[in-house]
Amino acid sequence: MISQKSIQEVQDAARIEEVVGDFVELRRRGVNLAGLCPFHHEKTPSFYVSPSKNIFKCFGCARGGTPVNFVMEHENLSFPDAIRYLARKYRIELEETVNDDLALQEQQVLESLYLINQFAQDFFAEQMRSTDLGKSVCLSYFKHRGFDDATIEKFGLGFAPGDRDRFTQVAVAKGYSIELLRKLGLTTSFDNDFFRNRAMFPIHNLSGKVIAFAGRIMHKDPKAPKYINSPETDIYTKSKVLYGAFFAKKTIRQQDECFLVEGYTDVISLHRSGIENVVASSGTSLTSDQVKLIKRFSSKLTILYDGDAAGIRAALRGLDMALEEDLNVRVVLLPDGEDPDSYIQKVGKDRFLKYVQENAQDIIQLETALLLEQAGNDPTRRAAVISQIAYSISRIHNPLRRDEYVRNVRETLKVDEGRLLMEINNIRKRDYEKFTRKQEVPGEKPKESLPSGQPGQSFPVPVPSPAAIGDVFQEKDLVRLLITAGNKIFDEKARVSVAEYVLMNIEDVLGEFDHPLYHRVVMEIRTLALDKREVRLDFFLNHPDPEIVQLAVNFSSSPYEYSENWAQKWEIFLSQSHPDENQRLDAENLIKRFKLRKIRRFKARNAEKLNAMMTAGGPESEIEVCLRLHLRLKEIENQLAKELGTVVL
Ligand code: CTP
Ligand code: MN
Repeated sequence: MISQKSIQEVQDAARIEEVVGDFVELRRRGVNLAGLCPFHHEKTPSFYVSPSKNIFKCFGCARGGTPVNFVMEHENLSFPDAIRYLARKYRIELEETVNDDLALQEQQVLESLYLINQFAQDFFAEQMRSTDLGKSVCLSYFKHRGFDDATIEKFGLGFAPGDRDRFTQVAVAKGYSIELLRKLGLTTSFDNDFFRNRAMFPIHNLSGKVIAFAGRIMHKDPKAPKYINSPETDIYTKSKVLYGAFFAKKTIRQQDECFLVEGYTDVISLHRSGIENVVASSGTSLTSDQVKLIKRFSSKLTILYDGDAAGIRAALRGLDMALEEDLNVRVVLLPDGEDPDSYIQKVGKDRFLKYVQENAQDIIQLETALLLEQAGNDPTRRAAVISQIAYSISRIHNPLRRDEYVRNVRETLKVDEGRLLMEINNIRKRDYEKFTRKQEVPGEKPKESLPSGQPGQSFPVPVPSPAAIGDVFQEKDLVRLLITAGNKIFDEKARVSVAEYVLMNIEDVLGEFDHPLYHRVVMEIRTLALDKREVRLDFFLNHPDPEIVQLAVNFSSSPYEYSENWAQKWEIFLSQSHPDENQRLDAENLIKRFKLRKIRRFKARNAEKLNAMMTAGGPESEIEVCLRLHLRLKEIENQLAKELGTVVL
């Protein structure tokens, strides 16, 4: 537990422009700074930082908040971890009290593991740069492969010498525990070095800490494996890691696209040539944890594999799982005999990207074409292909996207739309029935009867409850709009005011406000609107409740105010014709955003209930109702997200 005093200290020290500035290029715009939002893809800056208020705000995706909020969102950290991050940045020593000695010990062991790995990386780098053998054997090998110094440094590459135990000796002499060295796999059970005479590739976690190593042989040897790897440890779970993710995450977000390659050298080579949104699955097929990792940064995955049969098979193996995660997956098959590394070295960045652009195929279409080719003219096999494609499409949660695919493949498959749709719906229905029937099996542990890991299942386990900040940003935006522009006309013909329009649209979720003050204000506005009275700023400025007055004052003097010089203050809206247009668009988007948050909450709550009922073996009819509700909520969520142009996570 971090002490309250320390938290306060960090919050006081953190400057929004500095914290954001580490990730976003900001330009001065009046009293504020502006840049491209790091959270959603955009071409014109809608992301603002206010040094005086010490907050950030994006008009495109409605995110906003303090430096701590920014770090939490951007780095995917919990509140305490965000505080720790900022404490490091501002060199503040945190007072942490530990209620649990065991937890502290475990934490210390983990820290030691990271420390030793970092030491090992430094050792290997040193060996490569300042020993004769390191230079002549290893550094020259990397250079020969086209890696320059900056790239070698960036990826922390190095050289493990061929001696029996040089590394282990040095590490032990430095005071590192032999048990931990063994645990990390750097030292064998006979106390020898595990990596000997190999080119070393450190593997980093998302925050850049070294969690494992891969060592590549530097000469051809049919008897020795090309790569050897660290074992799995408490800090390294192979299936959850993507090589290069730490170096790629920022660019993946910016480009809203992630390239997936097979090998370490492919990642490094692409980086070297200026393509940084690339990660490697390290020779195995994608796992669902890796897909989820990618989804944190982008919803577009482009797989770059060898054009040979093995490459294609590898690409298709992860297909259904990726679809289930709502990723947009495309595949690029490289020319025969080339991997991304060799190909980019041959043709350079521009032609490489051009090739990718021109040859990216939608993965379901690729699957369709390949299966059809295999099936030839055999009618039974062709029918099987249709079923297989229907299965792949049925993995997709979003009904709109499913329809899109059906339209796309029906010509290739020469099957009519209705037949395909029916098949898809049958699969989904069967899944659903299998899922409900499953609950009757006696003696089964409830946890295992959860659908998540089952093939052919698409009902997710509940998402964790909303973040600590809840939905107050969205609520605040709505209340601000209501207070400052509630009496403006929303629709001339229907004679509806902004306040009426908003209230009509959130009537069903009025009970769901997180913030009591915002809830009070909205309920008052509702009364006003029902009485057909005007919703005016001065009503709130003269309100008996001092909290409401304060709120109204803040809104009326904030730069978000709907005032005459709105456009001047926020150049971003200049492109839109008339301020009233903005209000209209704003009202609609705010409502959608607000509802999206609430729908997600309903969904989580419903999923929790569903889980509980399944654990306790609740009545089947009720489970069915919950399931239907789940699907329905998911559809609404997708629809809203689509309209808002955001990605459903
Ligand atoms: N791999 C492995 N062990 C092997 C061969 C391959 O772990 N014996 C994994 C590595 O993660 C490797 C990936 O599979 O990066 C792709 O294999 P390959 O293309 O052979 O390796 P590259 O890293 O591309 O190596 P290079 O280009 O140096 O041959
Ligand atoms: Mn290669």
